Amino acid sequence: MQDILVSDIAKHLGTEVRLKGWVRNIRHSGKLIFIIFRDGSAEIQAVAFKPELGEESFEEAKRLGIESSIILTGIPKEHQKKAGEYELDVKSIKVIQNAEDYPISKKEHGPDFLLSNRHLWIRSSKQWAILRIRHTVYFAICEYLNDNDFFRFDSPILTPNACEGTTTLFELDYFDEGKAYLSQSGQLYLETGIMSLGRVYDFGPVFRAERSKTRKHLTEFWMMDAEAAFVEHDENMAIQEGLIRHVIRKVLEKCDKELDILERDKDRLKAADAPFKRMSHHEAIEYLRSKGSEIDHGSDLGAADEALLTEGSPVPIFIDRWPKEIKAFYMKRAPENENLVLGSDLIAPEGFGEIIGGSQREDDYELLLSRMKEEKMDLEEYQWFLDLRKYGSVPHSGFGIGLERLVTWMSGTHHIRETIPFPRMIYRIYP
Ligand code: 4AD
Ligand code: MG
Repeated sequence: MQDILVSDIAKHLGTEVRLKGWVRNIRHSGKLIFIIFRDGSAEIQAVAFKPELGEESFEEAKRLGIESSIILTGIPKEHQKKAGEYELDVKSIKVIQNAEDYPISKKEHGPDFLLSNRHLWIRSSKQWAILRIRHTVYFAICEYLNDNDFFRFDSPILTPNACEGTTTLFELDYFDEGKAYLSQSGQLYLETGIMSLGRVYDFGPVFRAERSKTRKHLTEFWMMDAEAAFVEHDENMAIQEGLIRHVIRKVLEKCDKELDILERDKDRLKAADAPFKRMSHHEAIEYLRSKGSEIDHGSDLGAADEALLTEGSPVPIFIDRWPKEIKAFYMKRAPENENLVLGSDLIAPEGFGEIIGGSQREDDYELLLSRMKEEKMDLEEYQWFLDLRKYGSVPHSGFGIGLERLVTWMSGTHHIRETIPFPRMIYRIYP
């Protein structure tokens, strides 16, 4: 007999198969037991009939608790009432472990309870759907980059210096070398990689000691940084747009069922697969002020500003040409105004906020050096980074995507904590 996955059931109608998995739900009535069975790939209703199972096995099955692990044999057939769905006529049930009093039930649980039981909560159908979307987004990003000549170039997590300023650094003692820090972004290392490979990306965990307790912040999250030689500001944004639109298409293509489980409005996602808007930071502030906001021209955008800005826009919006004071030291000055930098933030629609930060990089040794002095950075620690501007400097650009921010948007999830298996936030490190 063949072991199969529930997701392959349609290929095996009418022949006896074996399924291995868990009891999502169970009820019995008279001579029948109905099990909602799941195996990680999908779920199916399994119907056991007492005369088929025999007295002893039937009684044992009746006592199965939610999330018990079992092996079923049976014959798949089309669902009696629901078109396009299947059912299993159970021939035998082997109990691997009978789970009693599974703590998560159908009733409403508070977020603290669910987060403390995250190791179990991930089995729930919505969490399953989000984690599957995360998987799809991850591979869609890699696929697009691979198809566009980017090489994977892994950057270190333990670093001697900061990429994104010193206010959100996790610090640790590193043997006799003094302080080390957990990486906030692999960007600076990626910039070395382009001089070897041309176009590179990394994808891994990064860390921010963010005091922000919002629905968009984690202290550990996954970032994909990409960097490309001879790519300037406009092309940098074009690459980001191509990548995000590829991800949207892949999620719609591969995660239809998952989006249904999450009740995600797919039309909103489809509508976002169209040319993105662009505006300067100056234009964004003017627009926000025209809508009643009191934000001033020197300010970064908060969550409320981002939501107001994208309200009514089906597509994401690039905000570029930021005041240099509120952006990182490495961004290149705009040619028309030395107080602005060629940085861009990509803001997702529907209030999901910033999903990408990117920029053209300052490639002139003296200009970069003076910016670093202004920021009072320890030049010795960054000599290697400055070297890149001495030995074959070229115009180049890159960007970083927060994986969980993108998954939050794709899946339509309210809080970012549900988009990573084990979220790390200021008030939570368990489990
Ligand atoms: O805008 P950020 O800070 O940009 C960088 O780190 C650049 N060095 C990237 C680069 O150019 N290679 O971060 C990039 C993205 C943000 O747009 C956001 O999606 C995500 O990382 N992000 C966070 N996601 C979750 N929790 C946090 N605390 C985040 N901080 C940033
Ligand atoms: Mg940013």
